[in-house]
Amino acid sequence: MNGFFLVLDGIDGAGKSTHLAFIQEFLANERIETIYTREPGGTPLSERLRDILLNKNNKIHHDSETLLMFAARSQHLQQRIYPALQQGKWVISDRFTDASYAYQSGGRQMPDSRIATIENWVQGDFRPDMTIIFDVPVAVSQERVAKARQKDRFEQEDPAFFERVRQAYLRQAAKNPHRYAVIDSNQDKEMVQNHLQHILSGCLKQWRANK
Ligand code: TYD
Repeated sequence: MNGFFLVLDGIDGAGKSTHLAFIQEFLANERIETIYTREPGGTPLSERLRDILLNKNNKIHHDSETLLMFAARSQHLQQRIYPALQQGKWVISDRFTDASYAYQSGGRQMPDSRIATIENWVQGDFRPDMTIIFDVPVAVSQERVAKARQKDRFEQEDPAFFERVRQAYLRQAAKNPHRYAVIDSNQDKEMVQNHLQHILSGCLKQWRANK
């Protein structure tokens, strides 16, 4: 596939959305053809699954939650991500499979190996070209979420859950340092953007060299 698959991930309240505008501007200046999408979601069916998954009134078994995440992901890959990458576009996704390792395995304490089995079943050996993890201490993220909005089904969880989620993201990044970047998102916006610019320039260089 000729495109580039870039994923933004991190615990709720880590600042992904805040920095998206900067990423959009950077790629637009480089005249890169880009689509922006999110998980769970990104297609009509996957957005319906998102509504079910995030609705705090739904009681969902942990196994069912994982399978619904991957059902949404499978549709997203087939209908949206693969076609765009085949056309040579960049795909920027707000979350992807690392969120399943972080929330369903880390947070919900399901064994990593089960996520890996479903990941391989749904994706084969397809993985993002680069995943940027926005990292902040749990206390900071909780303060941001409390200020910003009504909490969804995941955001209701306690700080210990989010500590496990955070550590799972950091473990994922440490396992494959060549295709992950961790940004300290608990610093000035300008500092975060400098780091982001550095990462994005590296991605562009890698992509142009492989074209
Ligand atoms: P989020 O991306 O935080 O959206 P918003 O910024 O609108 O709140 O919401 C998605 C939630 O879904 C988030 O709490 C993490 C969770 N999630 C999983 O538990 N597993 C997954 O595989 C994915 C993609 C998301």
